Amino acid sequence: MSKSISGHPTSLGPVTAGPSPALVRRAKTRTTPAAPPTETERFTPSPARAAVADPTPLALRFDLKPKQVKAHLDRFVIGQVEAKKVLSVALCDHFNHVRRCLEGQSVPHYQKQNVLLMGPTGVGKTHLIRSAAELIGVPFVKADATKFSETGYVGADVDDLVRDLIRRSNGDLKRAGLGIIYLDEVDKLATQDGNGRDVSGKGVQTNLLKLMEDADVPVLSPNDITGQVQGAMAVARGGAPSSDTINTRHILFIVSGAFAGLADLIRSRLARESSLRPTTTPEAPSEGLIYEHALTTDFITYGFEPEFIGRLPVRVACHGLSEKNLYEVLRRSESSLIHQYVRAFDAYGIRLNFKADGLHRIAHLASTENTGARGLMTICERIFRDLKFELPSTDVRELEVTRELVDYPARVLARLCSKT
Ligand SMILES: Nc1ncnc2c1ncn2[C@@H]1O[C@H](COP(=O)(O)OP(=O)(O)OP(=O)(O)O)[C@@H](O)[C@H]1O
Ligand SMILES: [Mg+2]
Repeated sequence: MSKSISGHPTSLGPVTAGPSPALVRRAKTRTTPAAPPTETERFTPSPARAAVADPTPLALRFDLKPKQVKAHLDRFVIGQVEAKKVLSVALCDHFNHVRRCLEGQSVPHYQKQNVLLMGPTGVGKTHLIRSAAELIGVPFVKADATKFSETGYVGADVDDLVRDLIRRSNGDLKRAGLGIIYLDEVDKLATQDGNGRDVSGKGVQTNLLKLMEDADVPVLSPNDITGQVQGAMAVARGGAPSSDTINTRHILFIVSGAFAGLADLIRSRLARESSLRPTTTPEAPSEGLIYEHALTTDFITYGFEPEFIGRLPVRVACHGLSEKNLYEVLRRSESSLIHQYVRAFDAYGIRLNFKADGLHRIAHLASTENTGARGLMTICERIFRDLKFELPSTDVRELEVTRELVDYPARVLARLCSKT
């Protein structure tokens, strides 16, 4: 199976623009394999591809089961079992619902299952969503909630997220309307003191409400200079500015954040509740499981508007990565950093060979960084910096990544250079 730069498979066809991966597996008779998508096509299959591959390109041929989605996520994301399960079910429910709607079936009283993902930095929140979007083949945009402002005049307007989906879909409004919007750092939108003093965060929450449910967003932004220029050019040509809109009914919103301090709120509520019921002595939840006890009231105390948090019914926590998890991230994940380093040295004809003791040592050092899997990159950059600079100009053709190299890269480099 060919892989994209991120290490993700590129041969998993987009669902909206052709047979789903499941269908592809069944359709053994395909004679001319499709060319692998380019980097920009990964989330945004071209209309031309769609026209050839699928006579009804706008129908969503989603037929994945939750276990298939999880199996795909397992290839890239280590641990986070609960998050993967919850996400797989939510994604399947959502896209099955969208498929039914697009097929013209009546789907009464459906409530959208937008997702809230909690967890510390670098534990795979974005990686999960990106991998899932890639599998499903829908356009995907990611943004930090902190870049938005209430008015959109200073900072971006939340509607821009939807317009970004259109860009990701090469202007195809129908495809954009089936996308996933991933909003990170959403915990920063919580009001600071419960008195609503953080007006901007509250305003952004309010602006997101309609968007997360069912809103028509103008394709051209009234605040954006490009939108204004395009509108003016249309008028100059004798026409009217585009009044096209895109509806957000089928766009799935996934928000995430570290939610620092939420665990303390949950813990004190649980303690209060148990003191009111002295006959029961429930065990205090462990640190890793505390978020599973989060109630809507906790998020409201944290600083969210009830209407905002109410539109995020699917809530799940990602846990911190242990040293063992980090070792597995290196050794087992298909998007492991070690592939990147192997490729970097391979470009100079040097074979990089990671040994188990070296991987364990990197995982150990990364775990002390407290930045999740991001720590792996920090450690690797430190180890390989001089080696990457010096070795390409030597006759060295093989480099073993052992514990000694991880701890004393300069010593190993000097030894290698003295031999050539
Ligand atoms: N559980 C994991 N399994 C495999 N790789 C992981 C995992 N967690 C993180 N990574 C790696 O670390 C990188 C950073 O992870 P990611 O962007 O998902 O972090 P995050 O949880 O979204 O953090 P932040 O809150 O800082 O945005 C990913 O690109 C991926 O390579
Ligand atoms: Mg992230």
